[in-house]
Amino acid sequence: MTTARKYNVEVLFTGVPKKSDFKIVEETLRAIKDGEFLAEAVWLSVDPYMRGAVNSSTIGNTMIGEQVAKVIESKNGNFKVGDYVAGMFGWRTKTISNGDRVRKLDRSIYTDDKLSTALGILGMPGATAYLAFLDICAPKEGETLVVTGAAGAVGSAVGQIAKIKGCRVVGFAGSDEKVQYLKSLGFDEAINYKTMGSLKETLEKTCPKGIDMFFDNVGGEFYDTIIPQMNKSGRVTIVGAISQYNLENPEKGTRVNRSILGKELTVKGFVVYSHLPRWPEAFKTMGEWIDKGQLKYNETVTEGFDNMFDAFAGLFSGKNLGKAVVKA
Ligand SMILES: NC(=O)c1ccc[n+]([C@@H]2O[C@H](COP(=O)([O-])OP(=O)(O)OC[C@H]3O[C@@H](n4cnc5c(N)ncnc54)[C@H](OP(=O)(O)O)[C@@H]3O)[C@@H](O)[C@H]2O)c1
Repeated sequence: MTTARKYNVEVLFTGVPKKSDFKIVEETLRAIKDGEFLAEAVWLSVDPYMRGAVNSSTIGNTMIGEQVAKVIESKNGNFKVGDYVAGMFGWRTKTISNGDRVRKLDRSIYTDDKLSTALGILGMPGATAYLAFLDICAPKEGETLVVTGAAGAVGSAVGQIAKIKGCRVVGFAGSDEKVQYLKSLGFDEAINYKTMGSLKETLEKTCPKGIDMFFDNVGGEFYDTIIPQMNKSGRVTIVGAISQYNLENPEKGTRVNRSILGKELTVKGFVVYSHLPRWPEAFKTMGEWIDKGQLKYNETVTEGFDNMFDAFAGLFSGKNLGKAVVKA
């Protein structure tokens, strides 16, 4: 008899998610059938989108999320015992899967020391950075990019890709340690938004030629202030709005539509799961950049399945530098 542990969502989140919104429960797993395999979590992901993806249908069910897991029993010829997979198995220690929508990890890329990157730089956040930035911002050498949430999983990759493309990069993050990290990655300007004072004046100072591209992870005041400072024909990629996720009452923002109109801006949202067939293209090029030392990444590792909530909550208090992952 095999047992698994999992996090059930007990109540809908209001404001910042609370530990008491979850309950860790034990589950007895049935035997696997033909075509199935049993996998054990090795690395688990916590991501900001999880905050918004919990809804009434999630209540009483396992918390959603991706993990890297090791196949420990199999009756599926495509997934052998000892293989590593990435799948949306949720916050749980063991999972029975039929392999549907599961990525088998190529061990020549995802070596033992790089397994967790399947959840980060060579996973969903990396694909977001690469595809959303290159497709929508369409960078040209010498142009200026502003990126918010710059020291996170997505933002830190976007800034470096822009540097590879010959752009000037200005990043905003929430601590002096993060600012130092961004400078070490080659960002031209890195600003601690919690201590900077006026955002408008900071932008005027750090972007003397205006802003050609804006990659937004944060939304809110950043969006309202940056849009009017964009150059003619600027491009804006919106992948996130983390400053808004925990608000109990939506904020009212500045009306920026006249800036979008007058400057003929392109403003486009992007959801990485709509672009699954193109993920390998992103990982191939990013893997080459990593090997050449042009693209660096950091992971903030939380040890232990029992500490998953703390890792998740840390996303909203800025605890993570780079990708937040949990080692089971
Ligand atoms: N559309 C898509 O397909 C897609 C895919 C992946 C991610 N995303 C979105 O992209 C964004 C970044 O995701 P990620 O995985 O790279 O997360 P992340 O940046 O690694 O982690 C979240 C970071 O957000 C910052 N933050 C938290 N609350 C904030 C607030 N109120 N105001 C400003 N910054 C705040 C914190 O950094 P500081 O210390 O700097 O505040 C925190 O470390 C999120 O909005 C996420 O939802 C979208």
